[in-house]
Amino acid sequence: MTQTIAILDFGSQYSQLIARRVRENRVFSLLVPPTIAPQQLREMNAVGLIFSGGPASVYEKEAPRCDPAVLEMGLPVLGICYGMQVTCRLLGAHVDAAKAREYGRTRLDILDGDGLLAHAPSPTNVWMSHGDMVMSLPPEFIPLAKTPNCPIAAVRHRARPVYGVQFHPEVTHTPFGGQILRNFLYEICKCKGDWEISNFVAGTIESVRRRVKPNERVICGLSGGVDSSVTAALLHEALGDRLVCIFVDNGVLRKNEVALVESTFRGHFKVDLRVADARQLFLDRLVGVTDPQEKRRRIGHTFIDVFSREARSIPNARYLAQGTLYPDVIESGHGLSGHAANIKLHHNVGGLPPDLDFELIEPLRDLFKDEVRLAGEHLGLPGEIVWRHPFPGPGLAVRIIGEVTARRIALLQKVDEIVIEEIRAAGWYNKIGQAFAVLVPVSTVGVMGDGRSYEGQHLAALRFVETTDFMTADWVHVDYDLLGRISNRIINEVLGVNRVVYDISSKPPATIEWE
Ligand code: XMP
Repeated sequence: MTQTIAILDFGSQYSQLIARRVRENRVFSLLVPPTIAPQQLREMNAVGLIFSGGPASVYEKEAPRCDPAVLEMGLPVLGICYGMQVTCRLLGAHVDAAKAREYGRTRLDILDGDGLLAHAPSPTNVWMSHGDMVMSLPPEFIPLAKTPNCPIAAVRHRARPVYGVQFHPEVTHTPFGGQILRNFLYEICKCKGDWEISNFVAGTIESVRRRVKPNERVICGLSGGVDSSVTAALLHEALGDRLVCIFVDNGVLRKNEVALVESTFRGHFKVDLRVADARQLFLDRLVGVTDPQEKRRRIGHTFIDVFSREARSIPNARYLAQGTLYPDVIESGHGLSGHAANIKLHHNVGGLPPDLDFELIEPLRDLFKDEVRLAGEHLGLPGEIVWRHPFPGPGLAVRIIGEVTARRIALLQKVDEIVIEEIRAAGWYNKIGQAFAVLVPVSTVGVMGDGRSYEGQHLAALRFVETTDFMTADWVHVDYDLLGRISNRIINEVLGVNRVVYDISSKPPATIEWE
């Protein structure tokens, strides 16, 4: 069974980062609620525990704590920041508010360079972010390091494999943080380091085969995005033609999207792919609609209508597959409660009608996005799909300001194709988080031959952002030559767009999409 490092999540903004750092060292990790019971830890084959940081103060009444029995299991423990304070306090230390908050890069002097802090130079820099600290230790603890304001910046227990660091080894501002985590994983927890994406994919395929009976089928809503594409490729590997994919062509997709999805899934993988051409239906339902939320709502409902009709036509379909990722699972309560994350099919409207009562299959629910991409590559998906930027469910409809019409869709598809082609050709695509164009139907004056023209002209705005999580984003300082080439091509090749601008707003306050 896979060795797991369980990360008791006390609410730090870095909890997910800790999980990723552990996985980067080829050890599987899961975030768990701090109240987890020893039995649950045994069931997940935990070989070590990390207690994350958190915003509370351990001496407050409501502060989150762990079950003290967890510390009696004999498992190695690494407490980070608040996690160190919780652990030390449970084992008799005194924690209180420090005289001065310590925030940012700090010099660390190592007092004992064996074990947890092995191979780190002294002094070294570490990243601190705390207001409380361990003030005094019972004799069972040995201080391992200090900073100018924090005399007890790292500790170990004399008799138990229990360690704590007041600083954050998981962030890149702690240059030897990776080494410290590796010391914990390999020297202290004795991890084998055998977790890799190929094993994960093989294991998931096995469990899907065990779950789905030979006469049952799985439906997967394919959007062409990374998550649903990897889900489909994985399930196809597991089930062959017992997987049926439904792709709804809503008419507000990128120009060659349908062809790409068909050639990849039907052509290459030989998936049973049903493409529902509902372009006209979506267009009809968008007539006269200018409010962005109303557009989303109508597209959402229409999607459900079309998808449900297709799904009803597939006999013996018991399961619905969706590409839920680990961050969604964490957000909905760490997944330990056994509840599946919400139906992701369409964010903007409720789920499927009651007669379509599928069980969910979520093969990617333990993976982070970058791991999903690795899984996609491992399964043989083309780079164009695995590394693509996200694309919103309501598609180009929220990138056409005002009413969505067939002409405007066609214009924006042409503009979008030029933007993506040029960004790829210039080698920028993989350096950008999301790049797209917005069609703004305001007529600015243009000169055509000898005359001035306004008629039927639009403005195209380019939006290229860099971001790690899409919650915050900055505009990309892309090179002017590239912008120049894109602008020239749009104005020359797309009749109906006579002006191109570049969006230089960051999120917040501006969102990534314009609507
Ligand atoms: P915003 O515009 O909120 O976008 O900064 C953040 C990310 O979410 C995507 N987005 C959507 N995705 N349905 C989706 O599936 C939507 O209605 C929607 N609106 C925004 C956006 O493209 C960006 O990646």
